[in-house]
Amino acid sequence: MKKMILVTGGTGYIGSHTSVELINEGFEVLIADNLSNSDISVLDGIEKITGTRPLFEKTDLSDAIQTQKLFEKYPGISAIIHFAAYKAVGESVSIPLKYYYNNLNSLMLLLKNMEEKGIQNLVFSSSCTVYGEPDTLPVTESSAIKPASSPYGNTKQVCEEILRDTSAANDNLKIISLRYFNPIGAHPSALIGELPLGIPNNLVPFITQTAIGLREELKVFGVDYNTPDGSAIRDYINVVDLSKAHVTAIKRLLENKNRKKLETFNLGTGNGFSVLEVIKAFEKASGEKLKYKIVGRREGDVEKVYADTQLANTELGWKAGTGLEETLLSAWKWEKQLRKNKNQAK
Ligand code: UD1
Repeated sequence: MKKMILVTGGTGYIGSHTSVELINEGFEVLIADNLSNSDISVLDGIEKITGTRPLFEKTDLSDAIQTQKLFEKYPGISAIIHFAAYKAVGESVSIPLKYYYNNLNSLMLLLKNMEEKGIQNLVFSSSCTVYGEPDTLPVTESSAIKPASSPYGNTKQVCEEILRDTSAANDNLKIISLRYFNPIGAHPSALIGELPLGIPNNLVPFITQTAIGLREELKVFGVDYNTPDGSAIRDYINVVDLSKAHVTAIKRLLENKNRKKLETFNLGTGNGFSVLEVIKAFEKASGEKLKYKIVGRREGDVEKVYADTQLANTELGWKAGTGLEETLLSAWKWEKQLRKNKNQAK
C-alpha cells in the first residue's frame, strides 16, 4: 500500500516540484490547494512528468469546515507537507490581516485535525527570513531569530512558535520545519516551474521575464552593500534539490528516525551569490544579454545571508547538488516554454 501524503499548496511552485519527487519515490499524493496563486493545469505537468495524476481537492485551509471535510474524506493520510501560505512580502505590508488570517489559521486547523485524526507527521515550510540580517555567517539553525521585517516574515516566525508549543504539549506529533533560503529554477523537463502572478517580486523570475522581453529591464536593488561587488548576497537553492529534502524529511518521520519531536533544518547550498553574479551566471548559461539598471536599495532587504548546511547534510542526509548556472538554465527553459504555451493558447 502506498502511503498517502497530503501536500497543501501542492499546485504552487515548491509544492508542485515536491509532489513530483514524492510520486517518484512511491508515495500517493493528495494535493489540497485553493488555487489562489496557482493554476489547476499544474496537475497536467505533474502527470506528464510522473505518469501519475495526484489526487486534488480545491480547499481553503483557513476555513474550518472545508478543512475538516478534507480530513473526513481522506482517512488514510500518513503525513502532511504544509506549503499553502501567502508569500508576497510587499502585499503583506499593505494587507497584513490577509496574511495573518490565512497563514496562521491554516496551520492551526491542520494541527487540530491532525490531533483529532491521530496523524503524527508534519513537514512545515519555513524561511530563512526568520534570521533577518544575521550577526554571523553562515547562519546555523541556532542563529538568533530577528524581529520580522514584514507581516509575511512574522507569520513564518509565529507559525514556528505555534509548532514549538503544540509539539511540547503533544507527544504524538513529529514535526520537521524546513527553513528555505532562496528557491529558484524549474523542473528540467520545463513542464512545471514558477508561475508568478503579475509583476514578479523575486529576482530570477524577473530576470527570465526581462530576457524574454516581457519586462523592459531588471532593476538591481543597491550596489552599495558591504559585499565584494556591492550587490546583496543570497543562497540560491535549486527547487528540485529543495523538493528532494522534503521527501527525505517525510521518510525520516515515517521511519521514526527523527531525534526530537520538533526538528529544524536550513535548506540552502551554503554558497552566497551576489545579484550581479547571478546576472552574469544567467547570461553565461542562457547566452542572452540581460538589460539591467542599478537603482537604490529595496526597503526591508538584508545585505547578505547564506546557510550553514552542516545539520541538513549530516543529520537529515541531504545536500543540494545542482550548480547555479544549471539552475538558472532550467528557469530560462521554463520561461521559454511558458511563453510558447501562452502564444499557442492565443
Ligand atoms: C524574498 C523575501 C523572503 C522570502 C523569499 C521567498 C523580501 C524582503 N524577502 O527574499 O522573505 O522568504 O523572497 O521567495 O522580499 N533583487 C533585485 N531586483 C529585483 C528583485 C530582486 O535586485 O527585481 C535582489 C534583491 O534586492 C535581493 C535579491 O535580488 O538582494 C533576491 O531577491 P528576492 O528574489 O526577492 O528574494 P529575497 O528578497 O531574498
